[in-house]
Amino acid sequence: MQPTIHFEANSQQFHIQGKTFSYIMHVLANGNLGHLYYGTKLRHREDFSHQFFTGSYGNTCTVFPEDDSYCLDLIAQEYPTYGTSDYRQPAIEVLQQDGSRIVNFVYESHKLTQTKAPLVDLPATFTTAEQQVESLAITLRDQMTNLKLVLTYTLFIETDVLTRHARIENEGTASVQVQRFLSMNLDLPTKDYEMMTFTGAWVRERHLQVSPLHHGLQSISSTRGTSSSTANPFFVLKQPTTTEAQGEAYAFNLVYSGNHVGQVEVTPFDTARVQQGLNYFDFNWDLQPGMTLQAPEVVMVYSNNGLNGMSHRFHNFYRQHLINQEWVNRERPVLINNWEATYFDFNEAKILELAQAAKKVGIELFVLDDGWFGKRNNDQTSLGDWFHNPEKLPNGVKGLADKITALGLQFGLWIEPEMVSPNSVLYRQHPEWVIQVPNRPQTLGRNQCVLDFTNDEVVDHVYAMIAKVIREGGDIRYIKWDWNRTMTEIGSLNLPAGQQQEVAHRYIIGMYRFYHQLVTEFPHILVEGCAAGGSRFDPAILTYSPQIWTSDDSDAVERLKIQYSTSFSYPLSTMGAHVSAVPNHQVHRMTSLKTRGDVAFFGVLGYELDLTQLPESELAAIAEQIAFYKEQRNLVLTGDFYRLLSPYQGNETAWSVVSPDQKRSLVGYYRVLAQPNVLPTRLQLQGLNPEATYRVQGTDYHFNGDELMQWGIEFNPRLLQALGILDQVVGDYASVILVLEQV
Ligand code: DGJ
Repeated sequence: MQPTIHFEANSQQFHIQGKTFSYIMHVLANGNLGHLYYGTKLRHREDFSHQFFTGSYGNTCTVFPEDDSYCLDLIAQEYPTYGTSDYRQPAIEVLQQDGSRIVNFVYESHKLTQTKAPLVDLPATFTTAEQQVESLAITLRDQMTNLKLVLTYTLFIETDVLTRHARIENEGTASVQVQRFLSMNLDLPTKDYEMMTFTGAWVRERHLQVSPLHHGLQSISSTRGTSSSTANPFFVLKQPTTTEAQGEAYAFNLVYSGNHVGQVEVTPFDTARVQQGLNYFDFNWDLQPGMTLQAPEVVMVYSNNGLNGMSHRFHNFYRQHLINQEWVNRERPVLINNWEATYFDFNEAKILELAQAAKKVGIELFVLDDGWFGKRNNDQTSLGDWFHNPEKLPNGVKGLADKITALGLQFGLWIEPEMVSPNSVLYRQHPEWVIQVPNRPQTLGRNQCVLDFTNDEVVDHVYAMIAKVIREGGDIRYIKWDWNRTMTEIGSLNLPAGQQQEVAHRYIIGMYRFYHQLVTEFPHILVEGCAAGGSRFDPAILTYSPQIWTSDDSDAVERLKIQYSTSFSYPLSTMGAHVSAVPNHQVHRMTSLKTRGDVAFFGVLGYELDLTQLPESELAAIAEQIAFYKEQRNLVLTGDFYRLLSPYQGNETAWSVVSPDQKRSLVGYYRVLAQPNVLPTRLQLQGLNPEATYRVQGTDYHFNGDELMQWGIEFNPRLLQALGILDQVVGDYASVILVLEQV
């Protein structure tokens, strides 16, 4: 039977039945929306209420005086509130004018459609006319305040993914203060899971952490005004026995770029409440009559075929329903970025020299990074002054762009539109345009302030400046959008005192408006997201930017961990991956050019070093790397990615991409430190056709698919010799790339 959403009027139950999962809800006796089941697909039936547990734990508070078994604290719910016998974390908190915080959202109606409507003000997943979806919008109402709450669920039939979000409309006559407004709540019947989170800091973004659920609250969050490197808005609950290849996992990814929270509360009864949404810390929204507040969307993936199965579902879904469709399947140009080659110290001649060297090795796009505008010769000045520096670019952006284009390269430009330096024309004209709190000193970050994007005038003004540069700057094909400081003293002179806790969220809405305008006016321009590296690597940015600079850390060894864990939800086509100089500028490690390339192949390849200083032998090797990558990039863009050996578990990392038809696979193996006197590694592959035979490209060696997956490739000296790669598996920081082709 076709996946679908069922509603049963008699039992008042909703069954969202995907290809492989079921999600079941029901209207509770008190009118609230309850949760029944989320997990492996169940056959549909009219009534699942025998699965419904109510009970009391003695000396407890119950909803109905005559029924002491109806305690909300023990009932699984869809969108809980606090104060009427559920003591767990609520999904929503509303302060009313009489001081009451009690709300009671009761089922009113629902609507099933075969479309997906856009969200108010926020980017979200989408569908096209050819792709099948079903959406269920359930309306609940709090009678006292006349607040209308709409919970919307969308089932994406082919990709087998569920998304949900919440919207609240004040249909009452009095304004209310919304103090918490999460996107989702899921009450799971057990706590027997491990929570996988992707946390870190600048230059070590999205490091995988796994910890068992424990009683009480466990969470990830950002308070920095960005989705952040501190905690990616993505987490997974998996069973302890779940591996890459098998087992159950529930995953949640918030389509949002600002302050967020993801949390799990384990109760004394060993149940787990899972929540995700806007961070309620330092949040308050003055919802006046007639106004609507939209919570961001959560993408929910349930997998019962392991973590690789979960990631495949995310990757396919994001390629079809999230990432900017202009770009998602277009081969991305191999780029050179001048940042680590020159930092701020460049002029037109130096840039052209670098571009000429880049052209010779097969690079396709030149990116002029920070330092081309105002008086920006260091990071203490000129953000906001989006006009070229005539000392560095005597012929303007256009003059340089024309020369680069004439070399046969595309041209790209760096911007940081959300920021202003106190030492800038823009700041001197409009000191009131930055995020600030009256009469308090402003904390600077990288010598800069954050512009107040809650103010439409600021967004429009900066947009006009940047759009002018792009319109007049020659044939610009690429923009790198950077963001280099987190927020402090979060406040706006543009909003009244009572709305100051709206600033962080309103800022993000303003940023999205800018982004939307940019990609709408310039759809032919590839906009790469960046935030001091990977501090804003989230699904919302991917709706505009199909690729994001994954991290400022371009050391090959560090990148293993970063790219490995980023792949849990985000496809390889979203990860900017550059080969940079050694000693590496972040960790000062020496790795071979080969290893740096072998890591960067599993992403969108770029170079970020001074090619004019390299010997001919290295330039030749780079030309070979680029030629090789160009042959593989379609596979990297569209294939299924498999994590094979984890850098978090040992000295070795391995991964592969398999083409959708299973005819080709690109395998990467990396060993950090050489070890004496150990048995050879046997690398078991995944995703191949067990019936097929594969040849290792460049050799006459054949393996069967079943053998490669069950026994693997053993890296013993005899076989390595036969494959011609014995010399690659010696010493520290060794790497091997194998291309398997079906014969
Ligand atoms: C941070 C980025 O991540 C770098 O790649 C570079 O663009 C610098 N900013 C420039 O200031």
